[in-house]
Amino acid sequence: MVTVDQVLTALKNVKDPEIHKDIVSMGMIKDVSINEDKLAFTLELTTPACPFNSEIEQDVRNSISTLGIKDLDLKVTARVMEGRSISMDQLLPNVKNILAVASGKGGVGKTTVSVNLALALAKTGAKVGILDADIYGPSVPLMLGLKQSPEVIDNKIQPPITENVKVMSMGFFYEQSQQAGIYRGPIISGIVKQFITDVNWGELDYLIIDLPPGTGDAPLTMAQTIPITGILIVTTPQDVAMNVAVKSIGMFNKLNIPIIGVVENMSYLSCPNCNEKINIFGKGGGQKISEQFKVPFIGEIPLTPQIMQGSDEGKSIIISDPNSEYSQAFYRISKITAGRISVVALELQDQEEEKEKILQ
Ligand SMILES: Nc1ncnc2c1ncn2[C@@H]1O[C@H](COP(=O)(O)OP(=O)(O)OP(=O)(O)O)[C@@H](O)[C@H]1O
Ligand SMILES: [Mg+2]
Repeated sequence: MVTVDQVLTALKNVKDPEIHKDIVSMGMIKDVSINEDKLAFTLELTTPACPFNSEIEQDVRNSISTLGIKDLDLKVTARVMEGRSISMDQLLPNVKNILAVASGKGGVGKTTVSVNLALALAKTGAKVGILDADIYGPSVPLMLGLKQSPEVIDNKIQPPITENVKVMSMGFFYEQSQQAGIYRGPIISGIVKQFITDVNWGELDYLIIDLPPGTGDAPLTMAQTIPITGILIVTTPQDVAMNVAVKSIGMFNKLNIPIIGVVENMSYLSCPNCNEKINIFGKGGGQKISEQFKVPFIGEIPLTPQIMQGSDEGKSIIISDPNSEYSQAFYRISKITAGRISVVALELQDQEEEKEKILQ
């Protein structure tokens, strides 16, 4: 009969392809039990959206088969790792990761990426919220086709929910007040803060913050108010040529916030007749930036009327046409982003452990 030690030794050969640590040391193996020839345990993945989940599961099965065990009862679950110093954050103690989506200039597709990322992550089973930090030009409710006004219960604003995503945006309040766009800097910061402190976000694996363009007040307030897991930079090929993405990367580097990676939106035109990729503005811009700043390149999204129509009609492509190549592009990006967040989360946990050791 095999022993628990033998099982764990075999499983130590399985490494998370992204985090480069073995799954036993990472605490991903739980509830091991051996009963005669039957082995049962749980594999707890670091996020339901990891791109390597099926690869890890297969590696686990392979390494167990080397022990000659035929009867394996393997349960696969996912528990998203905390990528924030939650203990330091009184404001959002139940939000495991905050991902802010930023860009150097406007109109590159931050909101489109934020919304589709949120929907894709929620589809994998993660608990997701999206905070529209664009106070002047909130467009998240429009893109999600959400019109309802949030209720207030026990002094907390209840975020409307669609497709299992909790949503908060100034757009919900403009319809009532008709005051779009009259707010100035300090008030903007106040509203953004309120969206963090006064909204009942509950438990979330990922809170995605759709930032307004550029390097203004809102991203700074955000970074100074709450611990953010990381920033996702959205860029377009033209944007790269004009060096605007570089500015925002510089700002977040100065603030010491990890960059999760770079997404290149409107990368190429996908010809509807011939399926050819046409690189109108040149090729490889996002990749170039990622190499220059040593930040991961997450992927590309094509320029296509279907994505724009989906947003305009309040029915994102992920919902209206989940199997299309465009939805697949968003799914791919969401998985790579979730994987990167796990890596940053693990680095943070290691740092905190180091700190604790020093303080003991
Ligand atoms: N890949 C794409 N293909 C076609 N249209 C797109 C794509 N990405 C975004 N768009 C369209 O481009 C416009 C700008 O996109 P979006 O609002 O997401 O950008 P943004 O960076 O959030 O803008 P802002 O800086 O104003 O907040 C929208 O009309 C959107 O539908
Ligand atoms: Mg936007």
